Amino acid sequence: MKVGIIGGTGDIGKGMALRLSQNHEVIIGSRKEEKATLSCDACCQCLRELNLPFNLTSSTNQGVVDNSDIIVFSIPLETLQITIDSLTGLEGKLVVSLMNPMERKDHFRYAPPEEGSAAMQLQKILPDSKVISAFNNIPAKQWSQMSEILDYSVCVCGDDEEGKKIVMELVNSISELEALDAGPLAVSATVEAITPLVINIAKYNSMRDVGVYFR
Ligand SMILES: NC(=O)c1ccc[n+]([C@@H]2O[C@H](COP(=O)([O-])OP(=O)(O)OC[C@H]3O[C@@H](n4cnc5c(N)ncnc54)[C@H](OP(=O)(O)O)[C@@H]3O)[C@@H](O)[C@H]2O)c1
Repeated sequence: MKVGIIGGTGDIGKGMALRLSQNHEVIIGSRKEEKATLSCDACCQCLRELNLPFNLTSSTNQGVVDNSDIIVFSIPLETLQITIDSLTGLEGKLVVSLMNPMERKDHFRYAPPEEGSAAMQLQKILPDSKVISAFNNIPAKQWSQMSEILDYSVCVCGDDEEGKKIVMELVNSISELEALDAGPLAVSATVEAITPLVINIAKYNSMRDVGVYFR
């Protein structure tokens, strides 16, 4: 599968690129092609040093849309509208949201948009795309620490059953991640809200590796 990451230069995007590029063709996207190239070079160097096989390239965000089967939106939700306004050709595409809208006060709090969740907002902006939510609850640090086995449960939500199946296969292709069908896209609000809970638990209990496991 060709997987493109919009905002692939960010914390989560780089970590996902490191992991996904071992089994898939991955494109790191950015608003700026040079920034994507730098991120891609750093990831390739890291994977070479670990003697791991990879298939990783870089492009603009538009290049990601033009050349990917699955497009991951890995940007802060506040930048979603402006990012989509800068892109064309998302109609009919399989689009993944891992965005978690949060506010930080003394603790972290889920702060969804009026559509109900980040993924539902994305689906409203892109009515002709197949939006699936996944990967919401895995911290960036865990993605990029290549010595770590990722053995979390990953809730996958979506209204397009075929698209959800493809994204679940993508999840299951990474380390020991286990994809779980969490239902329609409306459930993404509940899944996104788990992330501030996970961060608060880590903070208040001085825990390092807080993850979500459904056993
Ligand atoms: N960090 C985590 O542990 C984690 C875990 C699970 C889910 N998430 C979710 O994943 C998403 C990305 O998180 P992150 O921590 O990787 O974010 P980030 O590093 O702050 O940003 C990711 C990328 O978004 C692009 N971006 C930043 N500001 C922008 C703007 N004003 N307009 C357009 N693009 C902009 C940048 O790419 P370019 O400058 O290259 O265009 C940046 O590298 C968020 O929605 C977050 O809720 C994060």
